[in-house]
Amino acid sequence: MKERGSLFVLDELERLQNEIAVSISQAATEKELSEIRVKVLGKKGTLTQLLKRLGTLPEKDRKEIGKKANQVKESTEARIEEALFLLSERERKEALEREKIDVTLPGRRIPVGKRHPLTQTLDQIIDIFSRLGFEVVEGPEVELDYYNFEALNIPKGHPAREMQATFFISEDVVLRTHTSPVQVRTMEKKQPPVRVICPGAVYRCDSDPTHSPMFHQVEGLLVDKGITFADLKGVLTVFVHQMFGKETKLRFRPSFFPFTEPSAEIDIECFICNGKGCGVCSQTGWLEILGSGMVDPAVYKFVNYDPEEVTGFAFGMGIERIAMLKYGIHDIRLFFTNDLRFLKQF
Ligand code: DAH
Repeated sequence: MKERGSLFVLDELERLQNEIAVSISQAATEKELSEIRVKVLGKKGTLTQLLKRLGTLPEKDRKEIGKKANQVKESTEARIEEALFLLSERERKEALEREKIDVTLPGRRIPVGKRHPLTQTLDQIIDIFSRLGFEVVEGPEVELDYYNFEALNIPKGHPAREMQATFFISEDVVLRTHTSPVQVRTMEKKQPPVRVICPGAVYRCDSDPTHSPMFHQVEGLLVDKGITFADLKGVLTVFVHQMFGKETKLRFRPSFFPFTEPSAEIDIECFICNGKGCGVCSQTGWLEILGSGMVDPAVYKFVNYDPEEVTGFAFGMGIERIAMLKYGIHDIRLFFTNDLRFLKQF
C-alpha cells in the first residue's frame, strides 16, 4: 500500500501528463510550444515543482514515482519536439503553396527598342545605293562657305544663295545648308571613278509643318569617263522603283541648280490621288522627291578634274521628305519630338 502523499503525486503526474498532451496538441505556434515547455519543465514549472516533493515521500515509493516523473518529462520533451517538427513541416508546405510559380503563365515581354523612322528610311536608301556600287562618305556639319557655296558654283552675291536661308557662324563659316559640299570634299581627295552617297544633317533658318531648322539629306555623286544623262535616269529610276515600289510612275522635270547643268527634279505620281490632283500634291498630281543633274564643268575646275575627260551626275534628297511621303506623315516636327506614340508605329 502506498502512502496518501505518494498516491497524490502519482495522480498529479497522470493528470499533468494528460493536460500537457492536450495543450501541446492545441499549440499552433512555435512560441506557444516554448511557453508550454517553460510552464512544465522550467525552474518554476509544474513538473519541476512536483519533483521537488519527491524528497518528502516515503523511501519505498520514491523509485517508482521518480520513474514515472521521468517518463512524463521525457514524453513532454518528445511531444514538444514532434509538435515543433510538424509545425515547421506545415509552415514549409504553406510557404511552398504560397510561393508556387505557375510556369504556364505567359512571360513578361522585355520592351525592345526600334530604329527611328528616319534611320529606317536612310538605311533603306543606303541599302539601295550600296547595291548599285555607291560608297557612303561623310563630311562636316559646320562647313566653310567655300565648300557650301563657292566651290558649288554659287559665288558670293549669287541669287541662288537666297534659295537656302543660311545660319552663319562667321563670315566664312556656316552650318551646311545641304550635303552637296561633301561632293567637293570627295573629289578633292579622290580621282575618278567616284561613286558616293553622303548622308547627314543639314541646317536652314526655316520652321513650319514641312520645314525644320535641322533636317537630313542624302547627296549622291557619280563621276567617271563617259557618264551621260541616261545613266542619271537609269540609276534614279531604279532608286525610285525600289524605294516606292515597281509600279511608281515618275517624271524628270527640268530645273535649275548652280552646280548641275542640265538639272532635273524627279517627281513621283501622287499616291494619294493617283495623279488626279489633291491637297497633298497642290493639285498637280505629282510629288517632288529629289533634285539632280549633270555636274557643271565649273565645279570640276575647283577640284582639278578635267571636264573634257570625265563627266558625271549628282543628286540630293531630303530624308524627312522621303519618309513623310512613304509613311503619309504630315508634320516634320513629329520626327524630332520623340513622342513614343508616334515612334512605336514604325
Ligand atoms: N543641294 C540641293 C538642295 O539642297 C539638292 C541637290 C540638287 C543636290 C541637285 C544635287 C543636285 O546634288 O544635283 O536643295
